[in-house]
Amino acid sequence: MHFSLLEKMGASVLISAWLIYGANFVGNLLVPIAPHVGGAVHAAATKEEAPAEPAAAAGPEKSIGELLATADPAAGEKVFGKCKACHVAESGAGHKVGPNLWGVVGRPTASSPGFSYSAAMTGKGGEWTYEHLNTFLTSPKEYAPGNKMTFAGLKSADDRAAVIAYLRTRSDSPKPLP
Ligand code: HEC
Repeated sequence: MHFSLLEKMGASVLISAWLIYGANFVGNLLVPIAPHVGGAVHAAATKEEAPAEPAAAAGPEKSIGELLATADPAAGEKVFGKCKACHVAESGAGHKVGPNLWGVVGRPTASSPGFSYSAAMTGKGGEWTYEHLNTFLTSPKEYAPGNKMTFAGLKSADDRAAVIAYLRTRSDSPKPLP
């Protein structure tokens, strides 16, 4: 049998058409499955990751007592640099925007003579225990809503413990550690 050039071309077009059709057919079978499988794998992965985070965050948190046991007052003096714009912690010195913090550990809340505290602060009552200082310094706004210490708070528990350890030493008679 002899095929003309035209017939050969026609045949190759036909074969190509079948190949494309075939590839398309197989492709159509695979394509809708592929993203579904991928999606399922992704969903499973995020599902597994999600609970891992709160579990880590819920890990044992040290109490302020435990943190104070190893807190370094010298490091706290550096942290106190963030407070210096508004506070001094010097015996007999005056107030700045905030009250003088000399002897603040253990003293009644809002009791430094001559400082005009906000009602939010005087209304708090009690005294500055280590726990109170720790919660206050975590978020002053949450501890005494409406108080006039415009300071966001110290996020780091180590920084809070250090600055409290430093403030403890700024006193005529430092309180015993908890
Ligand atoms: C922008 C100024 C400002 C900064 C910064 C600031 N404070 Fe204060 N602080 C105040 C003011 C004002 C008050 C009085 C709040 C009131 O009466 O409502 C206050 C009150 C306090 C009190 C209560 C004192 C008392 O006699 O009852 C403590 C303790 C204290 N600050 C510690 C700190 C520490 C520690 C830092 C740094 C980590 C700091 N503050 C940073 C302005 C500031």
